[in-house]
Amino acid sequence: MAKYTLPRGLFDILPYGFRELWQEVHLWQYLEKIVRKTAQCYGFEEIRTPLFEQEKVFSIGMATSDIVMKEMYLFEDRKHRPLALRPEGTSAVLRAFFEGGLSHTRKVHKLFYLAPMFRYEKPQKGRYRQHHQFGAEVLGCAAYEQDAEVIDLLISLYRNLGIRELHVDINSVGDMPSREAYKAALLDYLTPQKEALSPESRVRFAQNPLRILDSKAPGDRQLLEGAPSILDFLTPECADHFSGVLATLEELQIPYTVNPKMVRGLDYYQKTVFEIVSSDLGAQNAIGGGGRYDGFPSLFSGQDLPGIGFGTGLERLLQTMLAQGSPIPKKEAPFVFSLPLERTARPPLLRLTQSLRKRGIFAEIALYKGKIQDLLSRAEKRGASYCLIMGAEEQKRGVVRCKEMDLRKEEVVPIQEAASYLAKKWEKR
Ligand code: HAM
Repeated sequence: MAKYTLPRGLFDILPYGFRELWQEVHLWQYLEKIVRKTAQCYGFEEIRTPLFEQEKVFSIGMATSDIVMKEMYLFEDRKHRPLALRPEGTSAVLRAFFEGGLSHTRKVHKLFYLAPMFRYEKPQKGRYRQHHQFGAEVLGCAAYEQDAEVIDLLISLYRNLGIRELHVDINSVGDMPSREAYKAALLDYLTPQKEALSPESRVRFAQNPLRILDSKAPGDRQLLEGAPSILDFLTPECADHFSGVLATLEELQIPYTVNPKMVRGLDYYQKTVFEIVSSDLGAQNAIGGGGRYDGFPSLFSGQDLPGIGFGTGLERLLQTMLAQGSPIPKKEAPFVFSLPLERTARPPLLRLTQSLRKRGIFAEIALYKGKIQDLLSRAEKRGASYCLIMGAEEQKRGVVRCKEMDLRKEEVVPIQEAASYLAKKWEKR
């Protein structure tokens, strides 16, 4: 039993010895490669921000967002400055964007990040206290076609990863005037039934009634069935924007379901919000989500800039890929495994292994004692294609035995020729 263990809700990503398949580092590397390629294909450039920021970077404009107000990891440094681990990416990107002066350099900015996020949530499958997101943000474009292009990027990533059977849920939460009008109508509807609401929804009733729409409590859901729809309260501009988004999704052949009860958990959203859900994920079924946040960037700089983006959880992506049996390339095995049988054979074999590596060949060497059968079976387990064997006899003759593992065929090659002999095999592989 290990003496030191991880805090609850965290996990390691390991090369082997992992508890669950999605924790294997090779899968993460593959996923990150496809993410970067897809983002680049859509013209997005990477941005990296620190793991922690001043607390106010995340709390600005988020008075009723649980993710920020209740789930943030807060701490002080030695000078008592209030700091927070990053719970979500958008605010950090906006801080860096304005602080770095990026806003003056072009009209539209397309940024993406692959980064860990920290939330003090109740851990369960698909929900961790450190999770990782691929997030993308477009700043400076108010067009409804932009909303559809961002959703298209997300769908295209899922497609590139071989993920199937996803549903796009979409809604508009309007702008401030739309929401004020809707809030009044929703409160009118709920007031006579307030006592029947779940305790959590009763708190939201006073603080942010729209979030009641998100309630999972069966009683609340039943009660909400006859509730007014926010879509009937959108200002003409918001309604036009929303129908433009839907028409563009149709143009791009992206099926969607309008869900007027979806509001999402962050306060900054305006107009379009969306979630992608997978039936292979269980209770935590949102694989990705995002929306438009026009007006929010101005809190960081005074410059009014429209914005839209999404975040998709890498843990949930990998879990869905594994559940669906998506094709994942095998991890690359060493091409050559050098096996010195005597200590004296180590220097010449180490030199030969070094020269293979200089040619870009993936080569390992066993610098430990062992019987030949054990060494061979270790090399086989690692998936090596060739083993180079040198004992006292071979060393005396200036040769090395090259064993082709699949065919169990062996050739004796002069040590000076071994590198080019293997390089030819490597090229033909
Ligand atoms: P979010 O919906 O809070 O949005 O998170 C995005 C995605 O991160 C979720 O759909 C889910 O896949 C994953 N996720 C969230 N929390 C956890 C967790 N505790 N454990 C595992 N996975 C999790 C945002 O964070 C927004 N910043 C997205 C955005 C960007 N909107 C506009 N721009």
